[in-house]
Amino acid sequence: MPILTIESTCDETAAAVIDDDGAVLGDCIATQDELHERFRGVVPEIAARAHLERILPVIDTAMTKAGVAPKNLTAIAVADRPGLAGSLLVGVVAAKTLAVAWQKPLVAVNHLHAHLYACQMAEATPVYPCIGLVVSGGHTSLYRCESPLDLEYLGGTIDDAAGEAFDKVAAMLSLGFPGGPAVSKLAATGNRKAYAFPRSMLNEPHYNFSFSGLKTAVRYAIVGPGQQDFSKLNIDQKTKADVCASFEAAVIDTLVGKSIRATQEFCCDRLVVGGGVAANAYLRDQLGNAAQSCGVDVAIAPPEMCTDNAVMGAIALEKIKEGQYADLDLDITAGLQRGF
Ligand code: KG4
Ligand code: ZN
Repeated sequence: MPILTIESTCDETAAAVIDDDGAVLGDCIATQDELHERFRGVVPEIAARAHLERILPVIDTAMTKAGVAPKNLTAIAVADRPGLAGSLLVGVVAAKTLAVAWQKPLVAVNHLHAHLYACQMAEATPVYPCIGLVVSGGHTSLYRCESPLDLEYLGGTIDDAAGEAFDKVAAMLSLGFPGGPAVSKLAATGNRKAYAFPRSMLNEPHYNFSFSGLKTAVRYAIVGPGQQDFSKLNIDQKTKADVCASFEAAVIDTLVGKSIRATQEFCCDRLVVGGGVAANAYLRDQLGNAAQSCGVDVAIAPPEMCTDNAVMGAIALEKIKEGQYADLDLDITAGLQRGF
């Protein structure tokens, strides 16, 4: 019997109905890009209010597409961590309410673990054990994964996430929101060596990342120290493309270098990559090349499964197999601390 999964950790409201063999019976995603675009980033209060308006229609659409009645669900799963507090709260309250109304057990899903599980959903054979890299708008984390639910945190960003850096560079260059796809598109036409941007901590022995210095380096390359107003800049297309290409190369070199090193240190021949930035074409290329030369298999979900969705909430099926249900007093964990 199928489960209902709910995702509302950031600015996508999503629900899916997934059968116990992992088949997706119906799903629905409502994006909020148009609401946040003029602010060039996600505004938490606006995101929470938009989730509130959309959550029930989105769940209803997923259930209708699947042709599944509430009484035929086995459980209701919801991402309860990490994310924006107001956004998480809407999903968790909706899931708890439906669990009571429909008399169904509740399952709590870790959104970052689910991003990695998206790769399992796209593969015919098991991807675990593996080294897992999550690169999203809010997180950049490396894990050693024994199984979908047994993960050891190896390291992560000590300041900004990779996706946040993409979004802010896009804002500096007036490329719109979300910034990742726009930066990536322009980068493909630019010179990756035009600017010598820093590869922070790439050669240090730990698995932490830092992208805030890179953001500042890009800023100085564009406007010079001290200037604030990017809107008055008149940067030509070629310069924009070169900045994007050099910036993207710096981010991707760091992600590829550290994750390949983790596979070697832990003698693991599989690397799994999830999160919105995993949709990046240059990352996919570079990782593929580096992994091939080291004899490592790489599993990355299709781009639409990299960004936030509820299908990856199928990780709840693994929790159900282990009898890991949540109580009705389940609360959100926004998780500003590291180590998720
Ligand atoms: O996983 P996700 O949908 O949401 C979070 O959990 O944060 O990731 C969103 C992030 C945004 O920062 C967005 O700019 C970035 O993923 N992103 C990309 C690409 N597509 C989305 N970054 C680089 N290249 C892309 N093609
Ligand atoms: Zn995400």
